[in-house]
Amino acid sequence: MSEVTVALTGASGIPYGLRLVQALAGAGEEVHLLISEAGRLVAGMETASPLPQRSGEVHRHLCRHLALAPAQLHVYSEQAWTSRLASGSAAPKRMAICPCTTGTLAAVASGHSNSLLERAADVVLKERGRLVLVPRETPLSAVHLEHMLALARLGAVVLPANPGFYHQPQHIDDLIDFVVARILDHLDVAHELGPRWGQEGPDER
Ligand SMILES: Cc1cc2nc3c(=O)[nH]c(=O)nc-3n(C[C@H](O)[C@H](O)[C@H](O)COP(=O)(O)O)c2cc1C
Repeated sequence: MSEVTVALTGASGIPYGLRLVQALAGAGEEVHLLISEAGRLVAGMETASPLPQRSGEVHRHLCRHLALAPAQLHVYSEQAWTSRLASGSAAPKRMAICPCTTGTLAAVASGHSNSLLERAADVVLKERGRLVLVPRETPLSAVHLEHMLALARLGAVVLPANPGFYHQPQHIDDLIDFVVARILDHLDVAHELGPRWGQEGPDER
């Protein structure tokens, strides 16, 4: 089975990350999930049911809420240094950080590797894999922009959580899917999340 690492950090936009996990599993991918402490906090504010603390409980919670098969999801604690995500010889070659805080953006751009989440991103970069970062902040300072430029130059994809409106979204889920569809495109995952440009629009349906 092919596999992807997904990290949720403490930026607004946790629904993007959860929908991404669901869409990846729906496409037959095995998902390796990392959640920062701030990510857990923000998830409690942005979703109807807060995430539990322990990895095993998060696994059960998300399998139930996102209707995932248990074997499709693996949840890691931030200090699980011996996990395969920390090693270039075993880690998945694709990773998305969604949503991505400006703090995690800085840490990855600087190679800090102070948590498994940061280390996993560092591994994907050094192994020349596909790293997609989905920052959510506005406005952006020169510091944020410099980190984004550094990451783009390293080959990462910086994909801000900026949904378009040309598909005439009717619901919040349409806006979420717009962003998740772009992430899936950059992870090389086939999907049918909404029409592509040039495909049938709302007027023609
Ligand atoms: C409700 C809430 C919303 C936040 N939204 C953002 C945000 O949109 N972007 C951001 O960069 N940081 C945001 N933060 C701040 C981060 O959570 C904070 O900088 C944290 O240290 C990030 O840690 P992490 O990168 O390990 O998740 C938010 C914090 C809270 C409590």
